[in-house]
Formats: sequence, structure tokens, C-alpha cells
Amino acid sequence: MLKDSLTFPNGATVANRFVMPAMLTNSGLDGFATQDTIDYYRERANAGGMIITEYMYVSENGGPAMTWREGREQLAAYDDKFIPQLKKVAQAMKRNGNKAIMQIAHTGREANYRAMRGEKVYAPSAVDYPFLPYRVHELSDADIRQIVADFGAAAKRAIDAGFDGVEIHGANHYLIQQFFSAYANQRTDDWGGSLEKRMNFPAVVVKTVMAVVKKYAPKDFIVGYRISPEEIHGENVGYTWHEATQLINKLTSETKLDYLHLSMMNYNSKPGDALLMDREQAAAKFNDSTKPFATLFKPYLNGAKEIIVGNITNGEQAVAASKLADLVAVGRENLIDPHFAEKVLRNDENQIVTILSAAQAKKVQLTPGLIDTFSAATPGMPITRSADLQSLHQGFGAWNEMKYPHNAEMK
Ligand SMILES: Cc1cc2nc3c(=O)[nH]c(=O)nc-3n(C[C@H](O)[C@H](O)[C@H](O)COP(=O)(O)O)c2cc1C
Repeated sequence: MLKDSLTFPNGATVANRFVMPAMLTNSGLDGFATQDTIDYYRERANAGGMIITEYMYVSENGGPAMTWREGREQLAAYDDKFIPQLKKVAQAMKRNGNKAIMQIAHTGREANYRAMRGEKVYAPSAVDYPFLPYRVHELSDADIRQIVADFGAAAKRAIDAGFDGVEIHGANHYLIQQFFSAYANQRTDDWGGSLEKRMNFPAVVVKTVMAVVKKYAPKDFIVGYRISPEEIHGENVGYTWHEATQLINKLTSETKLDYLHLSMMNYNSKPGDALLMDREQAAAKFNDSTKPFATLFKPYLNGAKEIIVGNITNGEQAVAASKLADLVAVGRENLIDPHFAEKVLRNDENQIVTILSAAQAKKVQLTPGLIDTFSAATPGMPITRSADLQSLHQGFGAWNEMKYPHNAEMK
């Protein structure tokens, strides 16, 4: 039942089965959380028993990425100087006793705002991506070891800032996924090649974070991992769900992860419903099971709890999702109505707001950066929750107007 509490392997208990997943707020300034960031999270403190921050980049060369509006950036966690603001974010999120989780990431090739600033962008291999206008550079072995250490240092900062846990972002085409992907990772050293070697980077990041947590955090500090269940780019297969379940089996058997968060377009997505890219082609070729990913990943969790997400916009869908997995994450609906979970839990569904008018956006402390972003997608208000992720990732009008400087490494 959605109302039921849940206890993670480490002993931490969340009050109900709702989760707010990581969502970029477009509210940072030079990597620092701003008052807009804090107000946004304070308003969402009851969005679930657990609330996850947007992705924070752990290395100076790991972002910013996917900033949809110039001057409104991704948040950073690569230096202790960010801790005071992060503390305020954690406090705002935890004010009603729900768990606050910080998502940690290195954006790798997706650091498009870096490219826009004329800085070098790094990835496992210097692949010429048809969908990127800028060049990417191969990381050296020493760079990779530094990034692994940076994940550990960022986890320490999350502990120091008072978060209840971290989510390691292994999904959505960012660096950890790039290492696991045979398409993005063409290395011939220990970090690439066979499936086993492509698992090395995710595995060592998880182990490093776990070691930091064991040393510095309270016993019930939560550590989760997010993965996209498959990666298909038309003809180029990054990995199939068969490989992804092997990775998860390794991660959850080598370390005691508290949860696995499947990043999906729909809570009941099935093989072939590849995230974001070439869905039709993928569906034709890779639909080798009619079971949802939520079910297919279960045998490989080794005690970790499972979170699913994707297009949950009413109580009925939330209940259906809760039958497939332990926890149910609700993203875009929480941008529009951060009291969605509370309303479902107290059977007050007719009070749920589904259209984001300008007045509602203000009332629910949507950040100016997100208001701009969604307004650019749907000129003028009101914004509906149908604004889709594909258009967000491709960038809206506002993004396309942004210019690369003359020193940017364009192809
Ligand atoms: C504005 C926005 C920003 C997002 N930023 C992140 C992010 O920082 N990290 C992440 O793992 N996923 C991110 N996502 C994906 C969401 O966590 C979620 O998986 C997705 O929105 C699907 O859930 P929904 O249909 O309930 O919105 C973002 C989604 C949106 C709409």
C-alpha cells in the first residue's frame, strides 16, 4: 500500500511509498544552490517519504550539463565551498521528516554548457557523436581514478551537509552509463571492452561511495543507484537489459545498496521502450519480453529495494505502480502539484492540480529557470504536464538560441 512505511537494508525507514525523483531545477548560479533552489525544495518536502535532489556534478570537469537557460545552471558538489548552500537545501527538504537524498553525477559527454563556455568536454572515448555539435575528449586513466575519488568526496559532502543519503546517477546517458555502454566506451584498457570491463567503472564508483559512507555516515545513511534499463541508439546498442541486469546483480551482490531506481518513460516500460532515443526502431528489435522492467530486474536486487518512475499522474496509476515495485517516483506531476502524494494518500484526488497556470507555478515555487523552460516549450502559460522529456533533452527554443563562443571546440 502506498501509505505503508518501508525499511531499507541499512535500517532507514521512509514514511510512505512515494518518492520525488531527481529533476534539474535550472536554479544554480556558478554551481551554488540559490534561494530559488531552496524555496523549490522546501515546497516539495512532502512530495514523498523520500525526496531526491537534481543531479549534482562531482568533478569540476563533470558539468554543467543540460542547463536549459543561460545563467541558470546545474548545481555542483565538487568542492567544500558548496556545502553551506547544500546544507540549506537538505534542511528545506527534511523539514517534515522525510528523507533527503542527494543525486551525484558526472555528466561526461553531456556537459554541453561546458562546451558552450569554451571548455573541454570529456568522455570514456572520443566518439564522434552525430547528435553532439561539439568535440569530446578521452579521459586518461589518471582522470578516471580522480573522478572515482570525486564521487567519494561528493558523498562525504552530502553527509556533511546533512542529507540522509545519496543516489549514484548511473542512468540517462551520463558518465557512468557512458562507461557501461559499448557504444560510448571503446576503450581497450581495464575500463572498457568486454561486458566485465565495462562494469568496472560503475562498480568502483559504488564501492568508493560505500567506503566513504561506512567511514563517515550514520549507519542508516541511504545509498541508491539509478540505471536506464537499456541503451539502444538505432543500430548502435549501448547495452541490453540482459547486460543491465548483470551489472545490477554485480553491484547489489558486491555491496549493500539500499535501492535500485529504474529510470523509465513509463512505470511499466518493457524491453524495447528505450529511453529518449529511437523508440520505434528499438521496439521492433529489442522487445524480447512482454514483462515490465520492474519485474525483470527483481531477481537481481539481492535485497535492495526497487523504485520505478514514469508518467504517473493520478492515484490509480500510482497504485498500479506500487504493485510492480517497492517505491513509486513521481516527477513532472510534482513540478505542477508538489502536494500530489499527500492528496492521493488522504483520498483527496479531486484536489490534485494538473495544469500549471502562471499563478500555480508561483504558488508552488517552481523555479524561474523551469518556468522559462516550460514556457519556451509551450509559448505562454498554461503549461500542461504533457511537456515531454524528449523535447526537454533536445532543448527548447531558449536553448537553441544560446551561442557557442568562438573558442568552443565545435566539430
Ligand atoms: C525538468 C526535469 C529534470 C530532470 N532532471 C533529472 C536529473 O537531474 N536526474 C535524473 O536522474 N533524472 C532527471 N529527470 C528525469 C526524472 O527523474 C524522471 O525520471 C522523469 O521525469 C520521468 O518521470 P515523470 O514521468 O514522473 O516525470 C528530469 C526530468 C525532468 C522533467
